[in-house]
Amino acid sequence: MIYQHTPVMLKEVLEYLNPKPGQCFIDCTLGGAGYTIEIAKKVGGGGKVLAIDLDEMAIKNAKLQITNYKLQNIILINDNFKNLSKIVEDLTPTLSLRRRGGDGHVEFHGIVLDLGLSSAQLQDRNRGFSFQLDAPLNMAFGQTAGETTERIVNNRRAEELERIFKEYGEERFAKRIARKIVEYRKLKSIKTTGQMVEIIKSALPKKYLYGKIHPATRVFQALRIATNKELENLEQVLPQAMDLLAPKGRIAVVSYHSLEDRIVKRFFKRESKDCICPPSYPACRCHHKARLKILTPRVVRASEEEVLNNPRARSAKLRAAERM
Ligand SMILES: C[S@@+](CC[C@H](N)C(=O)[O-])C[C@H]1O[C@@H](n2cnc3c(N)ncnc32)[C@H](O)[C@@H]1O
Repeated sequence: MIYQHTPVMLKEVLEYLNPKPGQCFIDCTLGGAGYTIEIAKKVGGGGKVLAIDLDEMAIKNAKLQITNYKLQNIILINDNFKNLSKIVEDLTPTLSLRRRGGDGHVEFHGIVLDLGLSSAQLQDRNRGFSFQLDAPLNMAFGQTAGETTERIVNNRRAEELERIFKEYGEERFAKRIARKIVEYRKLKSIKTTGQMVEIIKSALPKKYLYGKIHPATRVFQALRIATNKELENLEQVLPQAMDLLAPKGRIAVVSYHSLEDRIVKRFFKRESKDCICPPSYPACRCHHKARLKILTPRVVRASEEEVLNNPRARSAKLRAAERM
C-alpha cells in the first residue's frame, strides 16, 4: 500500500508547537504521519508522541514509517479524537506518562489537529470521498463505527438533507438536490458516488454545470462532514485538549473550511478571556478565567510557494494558542 499525503504547513506547525527533547505531544490526526514523524524526531528518545487516527490505513502506514525511521517514541492509537481524555487516561498507567502535581492529570507540551481527510483517503477507490472516482458511497474516516453516507442519503428526510447541504456545504441549490435525491431513491437506492454525481447534475440549472468547481464539490463536502460528525468531534476535542496541556503547552489547529475555522477561532477567543458574560451585564457573573493566550491574532495561511507545490494547502488555515 502506498499512502500518499504531503503535510500542509509543516514548517509553520512545528514553529508554533516548538517541540524540544524529552517533551510529550499528541497528534490527533496522524494521517500520513508527516507531523508525527517530525515531532518524534525533535522530542527524541526521552519524549513521546501519541498519534491518533480513526483510519486503520493511516495506522498501518505509520507502523511502516516508524520502522523505516527507527523511531521508538510513537504510540499509535486507532480511535476518534473526540475520546481524547479517555485515550490518555487509559494509556497513563502503561506508558509512565508524567503526571501534573495537584490534580493528577497527565500533561503534554503540545497538541496538534490537522482536520479533514488525507490525500490517500481521497484517492482510495473504496472509500467514496471523491466525485471523480466511481465508488461505494461510504465516506467514513474509520472502517468500523459510525454511519455511512449511503445510509444518510437513503434514509434522511428531504428537509434534513437540505439542511446538511446548506449548512455544511453552503450549497445554493440544496433544496432542489434534496428533492431529486428523494425522487430518485423511490425508484432505486443510491449506492455509489457515480449515482450521487448524476443526481446532483440533474438537479442543477445547466449553466452551473460548467463552473470553476465541480458541481458535486459542495454536496460531497457536506456529506463527508455529516457522515463523520466532523464539527461535533471538533467541538468536543478542543476543551479536552486544552485540559491536557501543560502550562506554556501549545495547541495548533489546521482547518480547511470556514465552518471548522470558526469553531477554533471562537473557542480560542472565549478561552483567552477572563469574563464571558454578555456585554449587557453590569458586573461579571461567570467568573470565567482565561486559560489560553492566542499566538495567531490573524489566521496563518500557507505560503504561495507551498500552494504552488501542494494545491491542497490553498484552503488551509492555521491557528495556535498557548496554555496559561
Ligand atoms: C489531513 S489528514 C492529517 C495529515 C497529517 N497531518 C500528516 O502530516 O500526514 C487528517 C487525518 O485525520 C483523521 N481524522 C479525521 N477526523 C478524525 C477523528 N475525529 N478522529 C481521529 N482521526 C480523525 C483522518 O482519518 C485523516 O487521516
